[in-house]
Amino acid sequence: MLFYFVSLLALQLVSGTSYTQSDSHTGIGFLKSFSYQAIPDPTHGRVNYVDAVTAANENLTYASGDHFVLRTDFWSVLDPDGPGRNSVRIQSNKQYTTSVMIFNIRHMPQGCGTWPAVWTVGEDWPNNGEIDVLEGINDQGPNQATLHTTAGCTMPDWRYEQGNALLDDCDALINSNAGCGVKFFDTRSYGPIFNDNGGGWYAVERSEAGISVWFWSRDAGTVPHEVEVGNETVDTDNWGESSAYFPNTDCDMTSKFGPHKIVINLTLCGDWAGSAYGDSGCPSTCEDFVNNNPWAFEDAYFDFQWLKIYT
Ligand SMILES: *[C@@H]1O[C@H](CO)[C@@H](O)[C@H](O)[C@H]1NC(C)=O
Ligand SMILES: *[C@@H]1O[C@H](CO)[C@@H](O)[C@H](O)[C@H]1NC(C)=O
Ligand SMILES: *[C@@H]1O[C@H](CO)[C@@H](O)[C@H](O)[C@H]1NC(C)=O
Repeated sequence: MLFYFVSLLALQLVSGTSYTQSDSHTGIGFLKSFSYQAIPDPTHGRVNYVDAVTAANENLTYASGDHFVLRTDFWSVLDPDGPGRNSVRIQSNKQYTTSVMIFNIRHMPQGCGTWPAVWTVGEDWPNNGEIDVLEGINDQGPNQATLHTTAGCTMPDWRYEQGNALLDDCDALINSNAGCGVKFFDTRSYGPIFNDNGGGWYAVERSEAGISVWFWSRDAGTVPHEVEVGNETVDTDNWGESSAYFPNTDCDMTSKFGPHKIVINLTLCGDWAGSAYGDSGCPSTCEDFVNNNPWAFEDAYFDFQWLKIYT
């Protein structure tokens, strides 16, 4: 009997990829566990991040049942010399290290000029690292997952992942802070195509061994059952090849990544979306378009079904 328990314990220790749910956020649950950041956009976007009261009054965040919606203003024509379009940036109150996060997302912001992101970040950037889980610009999919760190974290050329590795060096202070990104193969992972397929599930696992990001489109029928239902426990060994894999081969995950908070933000134009705007097939210039076409931002919203976090 004793022998049996000891071997069972040993087995669990070696497998080490099973996680237990610690947080589950649905609808108004998001409002309790995230805080609004009414700060100037560090990426120089044409947005004005509002506080909780303004977001509620203008219905820029909305929580009911299993919907948590976060959006930009889609009715105001802007004074070109005044503040940007009202939008929202929220940050989790809790922070995490080794963990799995699953985001069940029905809809993501779409439209010319949009730059939505779901990511995690530590204090004193870039000293505690940044993990961009879902990010893109101007409706140009597929999704790109990226790490940003201090110097001394690089990714091997060959990796087991369903995506195209971009730059290898994660150093945020070189290459104009491009970081080490991976562009997913699955075109359903971003923008209008993501939305047309009912959205899907994004998951990120972070451990000393590395960081992995998975995506399963709602309609693909490939999502693991435990992810689909947000099971009490999950085992990432069952999930198959990830879309992006960042192993610890030439990157000490423990020193490069500190405790992280989750950030959900929606900016317009700015450093990336603004500079790439001309190549996106979008009309006019990014700032003019944002200033003058509020109706174009009616679909610029996230709708989260739930977020579950495992440790
Ligand atoms: C929005 O998210 C991206 C992460 O991908 C980050 O680089 C950028 O600084 C964020 N912008 C704001 C204003 O929060
Ligand atoms: C607020 O937004 C939600 C979600 O988009 C929508 O269902 C609801 O009708 C809006 N409420 C008002 C008062 O506009
Ligand atoms: C779901 O959670 C239960 C309880 O923690 C566990 O026994 C089961 O193996 C998990 N996986 C699936 C796919 O249901």
